[in-house]
Amino acid sequence: MNYCNDNAKSRSTLRLNSGPEAIARAVDVLAGGGLVSFPTETVYGLGADATSGPAVARIYEAKARPAFNPLISHVADSSAAQAQGNFNADALALAHAFWPGPLTLVVPVSSGCQVCELARAGLDSVALRVPAHPLALAVLSAFGRPVAAPSANRSGRISPTSADHVMAELDGRCELVIDGGSTAVGLESTIVSCLGEQPVLLRPGGLAREDIERVLKRPVATPKTEAAIHAPGMLASHYAPEALLRLEARDIERGEAFLDFAGQTGAMAPLAMAYADLSPRGDLREAAANLFAYLRKLDASGARRIAIAPVPNFGLGEAINDRLRRAAAPRA
Ligand code: TXA
Ligand code: MG
Repeated sequence: MNYCNDNAKSRSTLRLNSGPEAIARAVDVLAGGGLVSFPTETVYGLGADATSGPAVARIYEAKARPAFNPLISHVADSSAAQAQGNFNADALALAHAFWPGPLTLVVPVSSGCQVCELARAGLDSVALRVPAHPLALAVLSAFGRPVAAPSANRSGRISPTSADHVMAELDGRCELVIDGGSTAVGLESTIVSCLGEQPVLLRPGGLAREDIERVLKRPVATPKTEAAIHAPGMLASHYAPEALLRLEARDIERGEAFLDFAGQTGAMAPLAMAYADLSPRGDLREAAANLFAYLRKLDASGARRIAIAPVPNFGLGEAINDRLRRAAAPRA
């Protein structure tokens, strides 16, 4: 079968100096589901509309990231952040003390959270940050929606601190790069999770632990395992459905819900307790955008098992398969 393979490197990238024209252009590109690289005080980000699954899928594609890590959603101010997540007393104190600034807070999603499932990698929490950079803040307030933005480098490369670095990494892979000179901090934001009683330092970064502990008036915990320290994204226990998963399924067994790709098993759909197709036309970007939302939907059907059709392992398919394998792994 022939699947659409979106070519990540097919666009002409416009480079603009920071200014009103760049801000207006950035808003247009974001609103159209495109990618904009912009400076923050830490590193350059590669931004997309965080409320749009297909737009966020393009980030992973442009970075050639083989896995869907949850991304940081950037907003213009603390009240915009509090519309997306539920802030406990620790989160409020840290936001008040350090935003705008190189601090990211992981909090439970609010009931009105607009950040799409793909940007959250299916988790019930969301990472939020108000960057301290006039250009970034101008774009965020003009756009008016959260912007998902990892560092603007290809997977496995170092984070860019100038527009030249971004062009070297992503020329042809995003619509717009805004040149705001070199970034001041040069190190990613510090990530603190405020999900329970005990705040946890998930990633050391541009804001020192001591500064955080001074505000909280107590120590923050550090992830326990080596793996969690080396790969902060891993600490976020990845999304796992209640139902068991059966991968590479080419038929439907009794009592199963079925997650299809490109209609491979569509003819058997009436046999399933619930059925969904990640992308009837076989588009991996569309499939990525739907992945977590559809898993949740099928899980809610009450089926004990969700069978999943083979998904091709190129382009975004690699990240889709990575997440499916993790979700299917035996649980403690
Ligand atoms: O300085 C920065 O933070 C830069 C600039 C562009 O703002 N952004 C950045 O974003 O580094 P990103 O998306 O690469 O950071 C993602 C990390 C993940 O690896 C994970 O550790 C953490 O944020 N993260 C995001 N959502 C999370 C969640 N719900 N639970 C736990 N960790 C989360
Ligand atoms: Mg990075």
